[in-house]
Amino acid sequence: MHTRLSVNINKIATLRNARGGNMPDIIKAAKDCERFGAEGITVHPRPDERHIRYADVIQLNDVVSTEFNIEGYPTKEFLELVLKVKPEQCTLVPDAENVITSNQGWDTIKQKEFLSDIIEQLQSNGIRVSLFVDPIEQFIEGAKFMNADCIELYTGSFAHIFYSDKHKAIEPYIQSAKYAQSIGLATNAGHDLNLDNLAFFKKNIPFISEVSIGHALICDSLYYGLENTIQMYLRQLK
Ligand code: PXP
Repeated sequence: MHTRLSVNINKIATLRNARGGNMPDIIKAAKDCERFGAEGITVHPRPDERHIRYADVIQLNDVVSTEFNIEGYPTKEFLELVLKVKPEQCTLVPDAENVITSNQGWDTIKQKEFLSDIIEQLQSNGIRVSLFVDPIEQFIEGAKFMNADCIELYTGSFAHIFYSDKHKAIEPYIQSAKYAQSIGLATNAGHDLNLDNLAFFKKNIPFISEVSIGHALICDSLYYGLENTIQMYLRQLK
C-alpha cells in the first residue's frame, strides 16, 4: 500500500522567524516540497506563533496543491483558522502549554466530551479528522467511538527505543495499527521519524496511510539539499 509523505514545514518558519524578514520563503518552500515529491504539506500553528504563523496558513492554502494537513491543539483561534481554511485534514493534538514539541497523544476516554463536538464540526465542513494518539488500544477505540476518520500514532517512543531494540520498539505500533485497521480507522504516523527508522517502520506496517515528518527531514536537507532529501525519504517508503 502506498504511504503518503507529508512534509512538516514548521522548521522552515522557525528559521525565517530567527531573523525577521521573509527568508526562507515559506510559500516557495511549500511549493518546492511538492515539486520535489511531497504528497502533503503539514503545518502546526501554535498559540505563540513561534514557527508557522496563522497568516502563513491562510497564504499556504492558496498554493498547496497536495493534501494540506493542519495540526494542533483545538483552541478557539485554532478552530476558527481551520474552519476558514478548510484543509483536507486536521490532526488534533493535545499540546500542553509551553511544550517544545508534541510529546503525547490524546486520552480519548477522558477527553471524549471535549473532542466529540469538535470532530463533528470539522467533519461537517468537509475536513477529515485525525487524532494524535499513543499506541494504546483503548485510546484508539476511543477515537473510533468519537467517529474520527483516522489516527496519527505518536512515534516518539518508537524512535527513542529504536536504536537499542528496534523489534521491541515497533511491536506496540504493529498491534495498534492492526487494531485500528480492524475497526475501520486509517492510520497515520509521525514524530521523530528519520532516515534511520522510517524504512523499518514502513516494512513492519506497510498499510500506514501517511507519515508527517519535519525536524529530521529539514535537518537532513542542510546536508543533502531539499530535493534529494525528499527523494531519500520517499525511497524509504517504497
Ligand atoms: N505529528 C505531530 C502531531 C507533530 O506535532 C509533529 C511535530 O510538530 C510531527 C508529527 C512531526 O514530528 P517531527 O518534527 O519530529 O518529524
